[in-house]
Amino acid sequence: MFSEKLINKLKQAKIVAVLTGAGISAESGVPTFRGEEGLWKKFRPEELANFDAFMRNPELVWEWYNYRKKIIVEVEPNPGHYALAKMEQYFEDFHLITQNVDNLHHRAGNKRIYELHGNIMRNRCVDCNKNIAEIPIDQEELPRCECGGLIRPDVVWFGETLPQQVMMNSFAVANNADVFFSIGTSAVIQPAASLPLEAKHAGAYVVEINTESTVISNLIDESILGKAGEILPQLLDKFSIG
Ligand code: OAD
Repeated sequence: MFSEKLINKLKQAKIVAVLTGAGISAESGVPTFRGEEGLWKKFRPEELANFDAFMRNPELVWEWYNYRKKIIVEVEPNPGHYALAKMEQYFEDFHLITQNVDNLHHRAGNKRIYELHGNIMRNRCVDCNKNIAEIPIDQEELPRCECGGLIRPDVVWFGETLPQQVMMNSFAVANNADVFFSIGTSAVIQPAASLPLEAKHAGAYVVEINTESTVISNLIDESILGKAGEILPQLLDKFSIG
């Protein structure tokens, strides 16, 4: 399943970077966004994942985030997340860039994580921007800051800019990586989607792990079809032992 070239590249690599998307958490039981069972088949992004929608109907948006938080706190990281945590220990310089807001990479033990779309467990005030500690999922009234402003989940919504430092660091990593993995992402939402191609242009060996082909499959070096939770532990065994 793994080419000699990939194993050799990994054995020689100094800097390894990974971009993950919703697919890495699918085997934990967290729904993805696109595809037949995806969240965007049942919910409309424009009603739930943008700032105007939140200001129009904060109760509805909180209900949706609490529904997702409930799923997330009840699930566990899967063997794919744990393999990535082991890879961080194995390589001198390992960077994990994620579009996921589900906190599962933290829970699996990765330390150097770049959260491009925020984290559903964090919150902040829409007025004073203060970070607010975790809010109980079953809280009935709308959460408000001491300044009176509404509290929102600290995630990136459609039309919002990504956290600048996180984004700059992610592009720097893509430009310096020897091997770059794109795992469980449909690679359609910018700017995250351009990271694998940025890495490729900068000379990295770029590998995709996904259950299906994506828009970038033919533009990178290797596309491995299968479940991240099965492929990643096998890959780890192969290059760390083999
Ligand atoms: P998507 O739902 O668009 O894509 C998930 C990808 O994971 C698909 O390509 C699946 O084929 C693949 N997949 C599913 N199960 C898998 C498994 N077990 N192993 C490997 N791959 C698997 O999710 P993202 O690409 O993460 O943004 O979506 C990007 C962004 O769009 C999200 O961060 C979110 C969404 O709208 C915002 O909310 C701003």
